[in-house]
Amino acid sequence: MANLSLFDLTGKKALVTGGAVGIGRGCALALAQAGADVAIVDMDAETGPKTAEELKAGGVDSLFVRCDVTKKDQVQDMVRQVVERFGRLDIGVNNAGIGILGADEELEQADWDKVIDVNLTGAYLCAQAEAQQFLRQEPIEGKIVNIASMSATISNCNASYNASKAGVVQMTKMLAAEWGRFNINVNCISPSYLLTPMHASTPVMVRERIRELTPLGYVERPEDLFGAVIFLATAASNYVTGHDLMVDGGHTLNAWLTPLTRDVPPRVSPEEEIIQLKHDLDALGYEYDADGINPDVHPEVAGAFKAAFGIED
Ligand SMILES: NC(=O)c1ccc[n+]([C@@H]2O[C@H](COP(=O)([O-])OP(=O)(O)OC[C@H]3O[C@@H](n4cnc5c(N)ncnc54)[C@H](O)[C@@H]3O)[C@@H](O)[C@H]2O)c1
Repeated sequence: MANLSLFDLTGKKALVTGGAVGIGRGCALALAQAGADVAIVDMDAETGPKTAEELKAGGVDSLFVRCDVTKKDQVQDMVRQVVERFGRLDIGVNNAGIGILGADEELEQADWDKVIDVNLTGAYLCAQAEAQQFLRQEPIEGKIVNIASMSATISNCNASYNASKAGVVQMTKMLAAEWGRFNINVNCISPSYLLTPMHASTPVMVRERIRELTPLGYVERPEDLFGAVIFLATAASNYVTGHDLMVDGGHTLNAWLTPLTRDVPPRVSPEEEIIQLKHDLDALGYEYDADGINPDVHPEVAGAFKAAFGIED
């Protein structure tokens, strides 16, 4: 008989950084669906509170905490505020991240610094503050889930982004090795190209190309991470630590980088791919077309894809 309580988070207290929209909001919804109370941590003080309200409407407790994860004092204070409200902390999902795409031969040092600061230093400061909190509690234990990227292991964006994510994976392994003695599990999840506001300007042809290069045949959505997040946050993963869980529809397996054929339709249609994206763009107050595209949101991401796939305007 299946023991579903392994995946139950009732009574557990979690925080998700970068939780206002996109992957972070998806992680928060997943944890809430499993029963956890979830704090939304973000720099965006307009959209973040809406996501916290949405979680509360779903029946769990939530609060919004404004925090820039690159600032140690803000991160420490953020954990304090979460614990003040929830009484304890059991799960930290360190997801806040950015990409500043562009050719590496022209990249400004300030842009390199910013990406490393948010993606790597930010995740480290959060993991540290979460572990410090776990050590203050009885019994001492906890779950840390860092959101890395397939860019940690393949070469697809630019050096700052890929190096920051490779850093997240190796940091995850080191912290797992160090903190196993405290019953703290540290793992990471590596998504592929995922339809969030980061990708709001990528044109339909790019999505079509991603589908062709992905064995499971559709573009990843935040909800495709739900199972991985719940697994790594619950007792189901108690003996898993230092792991980088690739959730990529098989994209990184397609070493030939040639279009794949399909024998049955993919599980998710192009219309279903963009349901969460449209929700996020609504929450952010952005307009978009029928395909969920706004060419003015992160146009450099669309530019990088078009250049990589040889797509003309
Ligand atoms: N979208 C993808 O294709 C993709 C793929 C793999 C990995 N990722 C990673 O997943 C994470 C989330 O990506 P997304 O696509 O949902 O991004 P997004 O841009 O849609 O959302 C990121 C959120 O993080 C917040 N944020 C940014 N900087 C912050 C800071 N310094 N402090 C606190 N909050 C901050 C933003 O306000 C925003 O709400 C990132 O780490 C990203 O690198 C994204």
